[in-house]
Amino acid sequence: MSKWWQRAVFYQIYPQSFKDSDGDGIGDLRGITSKVSYLHELGIQAVWLNPIYASPMIDNGYDIADYRQINPVYGTMADFEEMLTQLHAHQIKLVMDLVVNHTSDQHPWFQASRQSRDDPFSDYYIWADPRADGSAPNNWGSTFGGSAWTYVPARGQYYLHLFSPAQPDLNWRNPVVREEVYRLMRFWFDKGIDGFRMDVINLLSKPEHFEDRPKDPGSEYADFYPVVANGPEMHAYLHEMYDRVLKDYEGMTVGEMPHVTPDEAKRYTDPARHELNMVFQFDHTYIDEGQYGKFSTVRFKLSDLKQTLDRWQLALNETGWNALYLGNHDQPRVVSRFGDEHQHREASAKMLATLLLCQKGTPFFLQGDELGMTNVHLPLEAYRDIDTRNAIRMLSRQGCGVADVRQMVYNKSRDNARTPFQWSSAEHAGFSTHAPWLAVNPNFAAINLAEQQTRTDSVFHYYQRLLAFCQTDETIIAGDYRPVATADSAVYSYMRCHGETRYLVICSFAATPVRYLLPVEPEAVARVVLSSAEERAHAAVTQYLTLAPFEATVLALNTNEEVSGCSVSGRWRAQSEPAQR
Ligand code: NOJ
Repeated sequence: MSKWWQRAVFYQIYPQSFKDSDGDGIGDLRGITSKVSYLHELGIQAVWLNPIYASPMIDNGYDIADYRQINPVYGTMADFEEMLTQLHAHQIKLVMDLVVNHTSDQHPWFQASRQSRDDPFSDYYIWADPRADGSAPNNWGSTFGGSAWTYVPARGQYYLHLFSPAQPDLNWRNPVVREEVYRLMRFWFDKGIDGFRMDVINLLSKPEHFEDRPKDPGSEYADFYPVVANGPEMHAYLHEMYDRVLKDYEGMTVGEMPHVTPDEAKRYTDPARHELNMVFQFDHTYIDEGQYGKFSTVRFKLSDLKQTLDRWQLALNETGWNALYLGNHDQPRVVSRFGDEHQHREASAKMLATLLLCQKGTPFFLQGDELGMTNVHLPLEAYRDIDTRNAIRMLSRQGCGVADVRQMVYNKSRDNARTPFQWSSAEHAGFSTHAPWLAVNPNFAAINLAEQQTRTDSVFHYYQRLLAFCQTDETIIAGDYRPVATADSAVYSYMRCHGETRYLVICSFAATPVRYLLPVEPEAVARVVLSSAEERAHAAVTQYLTLAPFEATVLALNTNEEVSGCSVSGRWRAQSEPAQR
């Protein structure tokens, strides 16, 4: 019997940018509450809410100064409780962000810890002595630029921050710190939340010694991830967390895990090990990196996307569980990155949604994806994100020309995903009565919910149909995943198999019609389960299907000898070729 979180599709709410209720240009909790009926109408069953806790907002709330207080820009605890009540009244679960690799440097624990070496809080963070010449303990670079260490004269020591200096890393070796975290988790579970998304959770266990590492080319710093991710105590910490907190609640957990391998992920999510329910892996976000890393002008290759997603699907097919995503608040908009944000924006948004929601695992999509919201192009000084601002500085320093820097920011800035939700064509996209904290994407007059609600062929209405299907269909929820090889093709297809049912999911990434060779006899096709192309339901099924640009279609196959066992043999090889013009 599957769990609720295996059946649900999650909607990610970025609170600053969802809906502003009090006219200060910043989204808030009452804004979310006012849109619960919209979430219900859309048909999602769960929400992941980015951090809403007290924070100086150096990293948009991933720098927490008090884990039990609501950031006043978002409202009060009473507002939170009302939001939770309304979500639950609409059968929508709420999963909160748990950010415990680091706190804000404004957190009282750090304020005390930085004072002296003998304070009760002195061991809450990771402090190390300078080298003989007074420099940082090692050469690690922080994720947001500069050294991963900052010196504090009062202690005569450096503290470790894998992210910005305003985000000191907690010392998980200290059992008192771990108890603090377990208490705060209980605090939120006791309020009635349904689970946690755990920020960079596989970075908690640091190595015992902080040794230098080989420097990155062109940089004075070294990458810490290979020696920090999945550290020696990781499984023990998560198991302890389960034992001290999670086992007492029905809560779900998804761990964000950069640099996790499928084998590690299987261990983290094997139910028998009592650690986490699922993990967000990153492999498919690395496929369009370039010379400078993430900030690049490289366009992904479909063969890389297929290979990565297939690998993760197969690795966790039997044991463990995948969390599925193509985008989130740290990634570009999916339609701009993997689809076509111009001529085929709507078709490609529908196709990408189908690709994602029909895979095995729990899908997560970001607010606005259901409209096909796109990346934004702002003047460089208008970007707010700490990562983007740092990248602009670093790329220029490394000799990258202004035009390239601009293009890389357009492609990869986290602010692409953070612009306000486009509710309507009214001023500020109906998000606020005030100029928003981050510019609205100027395309809001054309791309907005109000417009899409009037059209049955809109991305919004397609999401509604897809969600209704994917959250109730047993084959999509529980069926096995089987890759279908499509050598050199512009089509990604795969099978989902459950009991007697077999689905063939076909997703075209081509901007022109494609002739797709069915991997089965046409007679084996029982029906069209779902399609983004209106004509598909009435089209005859022939050995070659002519797929519309960015078409997604799900076919149900008859169970017969041809397809029994849903095997992935050579004869399943599908081929496609450009349609005859
Ligand atoms: C991952 C979060 O998703 C990202 O937004 C944040 O900057 C880092 N972790 C640091 O907390």
